Amino acid sequence: MNIAIRKPSLGSAATAFLAKRHKLLIDGEWVDARSGKTFTVEDPATEEKIAEVPAGDKADIDLAVAAARRAFETGPWSRISPAERSRLVWRLGDLLEQHADEFAELEALDNGKPVTNARRGDVQGSIDMFRYMAGWATRLNGETIPVSSAGNWHAYTLREPVGVVGQIIPWNFPLMMAAWKLAPALASGCTIVLKPAEQTPLSALRFGELIQEAGFPAGVVNIVTGFGETAGAALAEHPDVDKVAFTGSTEVGKIIVRAAAGNLKRVSLELGGKSPAIVFPDADLDLAIAGTADAIFYNQGQCCTAGSRLFAHKSIYDRVVAGVSEAAGKLKVGHGLDPSVNLGPLVSKEQHQRVTGFLQSGREEGAEVVTGGSTIGNQGYFVEPTVLAQTNRDMRVVREEIFGPVVCVQSYDDDDLDAVARFANDTEYGLQASVWTRNLKVAHMMARKIRAGTICINTHNYGDPAWPFGGYKQSGWGREMGKEVMEHYTETKAVAARL
Ligand code: NAI
Ligand code: MG
Repeated sequence: MNIAIRKPSLGSAATAFLAKRHKLLIDGEWVDARSGKTFTVEDPATEEKIAEVPAGDKADIDLAVAAARRAFETGPWSRISPAERSRLVWRLGDLLEQHADEFAELEALDNGKPVTNARRGDVQGSIDMFRYMAGWATRLNGETIPVSSAGNWHAYTLREPVGVVGQIIPWNFPLMMAAWKLAPALASGCTIVLKPAEQTPLSALRFGELIQEAGFPAGVVNIVTGFGETAGAALAEHPDVDKVAFTGSTEVGKIIVRAAAGNLKRVSLELGGKSPAIVFPDADLDLAIAGTADAIFYNQGQCCTAGSRLFAHKSIYDRVVAGVSEAAGKLKVGHGLDPSVNLGPLVSKEQHQRVTGFLQSGREEGAEVVTGGSTIGNQGYFVEPTVLAQTNRDMRVVREEIFGPVVCVQSYDDDDLDAVARFANDTEYGLQASVWTRNLKVAHMMARKIRAGTICINTHNYGDPAWPFGGYKQSGWGREMGKEVMEHYTETKAVAARL
């Protein structure tokens, strides 16, 4: 497959933002990195430079954490009412909605993803997240506790914000990952130092402007762009940070845990996945084929929940393989800014090398390449949507997270649900699984048997602000969204009064 990559023009708002000199947001001011260093941001479809942003490091993280600490302890934010906090968080959703098209374009340009998906998925999902979380600000109540000690007692709990939070986010859904982390932290009254991924810093910097426009006091949200090994590491190990929230690779997740040990800061982690999609013989096959294709090709396969291990019962295996391959062939590949495109480039050269390395390894280990399997063109980081059939549990492509549009299909010939669940659970990850069947009993029994934080029935890559999301096993610690996420951003204080 060879395509010519044409870059559509940007709207005026995104163009105006890109023309600015980009800075860090620290203590309510836009400032250069202390070192004066910057790094280049590129368009992954054309490899052209699109921006230069500050390369923040430990010195900038120190300033940002100090600002967040002041805002938390003594600033106006420390005295704000829950209702006022709720109003501010809600306002972020409104402002994002007003600038939705601009954000979708920035996301498509910076990450490479299709702009249509960015608008409907990333931007809308972020708007919804701020609105949902705004409601929690006024609902973080403690309880009265009927203690049994001798005498008269009044015992109760308070829910208090955990404090200064470091948030380190990835490049696959840059704005939405920021929203998932900022919204609950702000609703609960924390202050924040946010470090966007070095591949995709732009939407977070633009969002910093909306945070100021919304009226958040200085220092409540600080944004430091920079590399993982410098800015990220300094934030994870900082002795004055009370909690770190991380989304990214399992490898870096383990580094974060070690870094956090210094002051025993709280840690929540959303890490990798190798999610199974299981098609039962009685499934609505049109739905299952379209759904399992989307499960792996959406966002170029760069989803932590991507349905990368596809299990099809022997009786329908050939139809599923043919159907998913046909769906792959129909995807329109091109520049993410083209509204008719369904598949953009991977985010970076590094990711392109990683994914093409896996394609090579799959071939060497004997997988059958039914469709795709190659890089596209010689400009930008495109790879073909790929279906690898005849795969098995021992292959690297089946065991490791590829994070690209590559699905490994395996056939199974077993009607015992425990046996099917064993295939699904044969991974060190446990983030999501999908089950495709018309049989309610099979669906809900499988939901119980699979060891993963989220189970989808006749859908995949599902998400909603009210639906707790996170992983079992090496897919992470804790849950984001829903009422569960508020546990990460609050401490419970128990009070006992002798009456
Ligand atoms: P990564 O885990 O290195 O990057 C994620 C974030 O962590 C970025 O903000 C990065 O700057 C930061 N970071 C990196 N090293 C750090 C350190 N030592 N201390 C503190 N922060 C650090 O992910 P990368 O290298 O971009 O991608 C590698 C693989 O990770 C992908 O192929 C994919 O398998 C997985 N991944 C999973 C994601 C998910 O949503 N669960 C998102 C991104 C990547
Ligand atoms: Mg890395």
